[in-house]
Amino acid sequence: PIFEMPENEPILNYGPGSKEKKELKEKLSELKGEKIEIPLIIGGKEVRTGDLGKCVMPHDHSHVLAEYHKADEKEIAMAIESSLEAKKVWDKFSWVDRLSIFKKAAELLSTNWRSTLNAATMLGQSKNVFQAEIDSACELIDFLRFNSYYATKIYMDQPKSIKGVWNRLEYRPLEGFVFAVTPFNFASIAGNLPTAPAIMGNTVLWKPASSAVYSAYFFMKLLQEAGLPDGVINFIPGSGSKIGSIVFKDPNFTGLHFTGSAPTFQNMWETIGKNIRNYKTYPRIVGETGGKDFVIAHESSEIESLVTALIRGAFEYQGQKCSAVSRAYIPDNIWPKVKENLIENLKEIKIGSPENFTNFMNAVIDKEAFDKIKSYIDFAKESNEAEIIYGGKCDDSIGYFIEPTVILTTNPKFKTMVEEIFGPVLTIYVYDAKEFDSVLKLCDETSPYGLTGAIFAQDRKAIKKAEEVLVNAAGNFYINDKPTGAVVAQQPFGGARASGTNDKAGSVINLLRWVSARAVKENF
Ligand code: SER
Repeated sequence: PIFEMPENEPILNYGPGSKEKKELKEKLSELKGEKIEIPLIIGGKEVRTGDLGKCVMPHDHSHVLAEYHKADEKEIAMAIESSLEAKKVWDKFSWVDRLSIFKKAAELLSTNWRSTLNAATMLGQSKNVFQAEIDSACELIDFLRFNSYYATKIYMDQPKSIKGVWNRLEYRPLEGFVFAVTPFNFASIAGNLPTAPAIMGNTVLWKPASSAVYSAYFFMKLLQEAGLPDGVINFIPGSGSKIGSIVFKDPNFTGLHFTGSAPTFQNMWETIGKNIRNYKTYPRIVGETGGKDFVIAHESSEIESLVTALIRGAFEYQGQKCSAVSRAYIPDNIWPKVKENLIENLKEIKIGSPENFTNFMNAVIDKEAFDKIKSYIDFAKESNEAEIIYGGKCDDSIGYFIEPTVILTTNPKFKTMVEEIFGPVLTIYVYDAKEFDSVLKLCDETSPYGLTGAIFAQDRKAIKKAEEVLVNAAGNFYINDKPTGAVVAQQPFGGARASGTNDKAGSVINLLRWVSARAVKENF
């Protein structure tokens, strides 16, 4: 039945002795052992430019996994043309046939391709096995399945017809091509941004993050195997500014699906604004752009679950989730216990290569990220308003490793309480437990972002108050849980303010941005 709500993909267990672990280990050595060449894929064909970039392992940057060809002006023009040509073919597909391709892709990823995508994400983006599994397997499979399900719901939702009049709404794709620009930190988001518009009948230019071309390429190959017609998604790694400057001038540009930094998104929006008179239609602009995500503890918090949320929320995937906890507000009367518990647990964390499955943390993505994160830690080390109470060591001699770092500050507007760091750095401000209400307000006013946040409390009134005051501070709000790890179809994900357009990924809200409906009235 086409209208059945899918299940979320179960998380597989890669424990010692499991067949999943054995298979994944084999895939890791296979991929590590062969350096591949990654072409552009335009109109279904491999295109080589000879202008090469490198995919290295963040945890051992001397190891090159692949070299990839970068798109230049000629290839970008080819990709645009191919997208417009492919549209004619894609338009002829019924939506049922279209969706079946993405459902097939989900099945391939759930079976034959799972270990390849997981291994590629572990090696290329330095994720531990659990982080890879919940991202490049489960979440990406969920995006494909649930987007197909929600698309069905959209197509079935039709206007009222009356006697003698048949009214219908055709959920047409946008006129032109969509540009998908994807981040390094989630293979699932990288896969969702080009496929969601394509599911709704659009054709897409896909520019993956330069630091995550490796896993993106394998997903592109998977889509081809699932039967995606040539040119529906054109895979064009390369320089973002070069590709953007050509794409945004094109009269057929019709939508941007973006996840990345707020300044990049703002620059793109500005460029689109400057070109607005050149387009055939007003482009849809959909973006998710980072956060400064918080945990607020009330004095009634259950301490163990609070500490687990701080550790998992701040340090899983080295804090490189847009949802990662980066500031916490803890009341003074529970702080001594929280601190003791936090530090005890942090001592258990192992850091190193993801190929050793017992490492909880791996490397940050690249040198630029390493330098930026280190500069915030150095700033805190030198400040008399802050103290590093755990971690702080950075070493990029082999890989880009940074210890889980906890900064305690006396200034609630300290630089690391306000700015997005995108690394394993948590800043804590300890407040007077009697000042809970004003801390809620302070939290709301401290950052321009509005992505995720959590309240910890057993006291129902405190929870209610937090929900009220922080109504715009987090598009994803968690009560007694960490603010990371949103599950597709369970917690539709996205935030407003400086965090983006809040067009919840993997939901009807998002998919509706990729249609331009025609209402048809027919008398009979
Ligand atoms: N969806 C991810 C999470 O919730 C972040 O992008 O952690």
